[in-house]
Amino acid sequence: MLRKTSSRPFHYPGPTSALRCGKVSLERLAREHGTPLYVYSADQIAERFALFESALAGREHLICYAVKANSALAILKLLASLGAGFDIVSGGELERVLKAAPEAAGRVVFSGVGKTAAEIDAALRANVLVFNVESEAELALLAGRARKIGKRARFSLRMNPDVFADTHPYISTGMREHKFGIDIRRAPEIYKRAAKNRWLEAHGASVHIGSQIRSSEPFGAAIERVSKLVSRLKREGIALKAIDAGGGLGIDYYDQAFDAAAKVNEYAQALEAALGDFDGQLLIEPGRFLVAQAGALVTRVLYVKKNGKKTFVVTDAAMNDLIRPALYQAHHEIVPVRSRSGKPRTVDVVGPVCETGDFFARDRKLRPLEAGDLLALLDAGAYGMAQSSNYNSRPRAAEVLVEGAKARLIRRRETTADQLAAELY
Ligand code: LLP
Repeated sequence: MLRKTSSRPFHYPGPTSALRCGKVSLERLAREHGTPLYVYSADQIAERFALFESALAGREHLICYAVKANSALAILKLLASLGAGFDIVSGGELERVLKAAPEAAGRVVFSGVGKTAAEIDAALRANVLVFNVESEAELALLAGRARKIGKRARFSLRMNPDVFADTHPYISTGMREHKFGIDIRRAPEIYKRAAKNRWLEAHGASVHIGSQIRSSEPFGAAIERVSKLVSRLKREGIALKAIDAGGGLGIDYYDQAFDAAAKVNEYAQALEAALGDFDGQLLIEPGRFLVAQAGALVTRVLYVKKNGKKTFVVTDAAMNDLIRPALYQAHHEIVPVRSRSGKPRTVDVVGPVCETGDFFARDRKLRPLEAGDLLALLDAGAYGMAQSSNYNSRPRAAEVLVEGAKARLIRRRETTADQLAAELY
């Protein structure tokens, strides 16, 4: 039973009531907007943002929300109104930020290993805060575009600190054999060369060691290496204004009593200790920690079927709506919107897509379910909708944002006409 004190905004007000997001019943939302449906709590996103704000209050900082985690315009607008900056990785994400919160353009950091000339131009014109540059070739391109447009480009080198972080191999990024960043040992020479180019301004140094990292220790280790480098550069006449610690702080997908405030404090202390006497601005790029637990994917059971010894619960949501279980063997808690009595049974929860990999859970113990029941897949606010697709020509889900006692549609369900609109035949 989800308690109200849980690290999630989803709870049952009583043993026979339907699951709610804050004060709003998910049964009602499913009736009004259909399923599959993403539901997010604005209050929880704001609370999580406030945790970072207060943990970092002792130092000049900017929290740049990683747009890739959930790029809904309404969520970007909400975070911008709280003072967030943004970490973007494409021209598309830049356009989203400019649309949702044009006033936040100066609080944008542009990351990513493969920026194109057109994307760099758009970001220069928008006057973003800084480019996190990932290779010497990219730095050369940035200098060229800056000259062409007539605007100096502020940059940070994204360093590869060669730090091991215990996470899924697909989302670990901070080791030398990964494609990300520049070998930290080569950085001084690159900064020195860039100092001679009048179109480049060395603004900071950045790292991002991976995602869903539960321990604060590797963050500290990475920042220690970066701050050593920054002190060395200062002694050599290059004074950087910012250190960007990247994103990556993980949540607990299993434990509902996960203490988010304690986690953020521990993380902030690890960074603080590692920054030493650096007195510039600290940038961080959290994505998942801000939005994952604020969101659930609500889906309806279409069929319950048996194949031999196995029972399959077939839902109307599929891997195209939430690909994390299929792609990273990720665990998402699954709870009924209205619980039935009876002994839990071991089932696989699967979607309608024609792939064996289309599952949300395997051998999961769930209370009895029948066709028509609603389920909520929890902790789906990050990398859920953002990684959705039209595979099997399935329309993308609708999204609802719950604010206090109110809920509003922030993205209507896609239609097949939307999907066909871009095609020529
Ligand atoms: N900054 C950079 C440069 C990044 O590459 C990322 C995530 C972040 C910040 C935000 O990381 P976060 O705080 O959300 O962990 N799709 C995967 C996660 C991929 C993360 C990619 N980079 C998943 O569903 O687990």
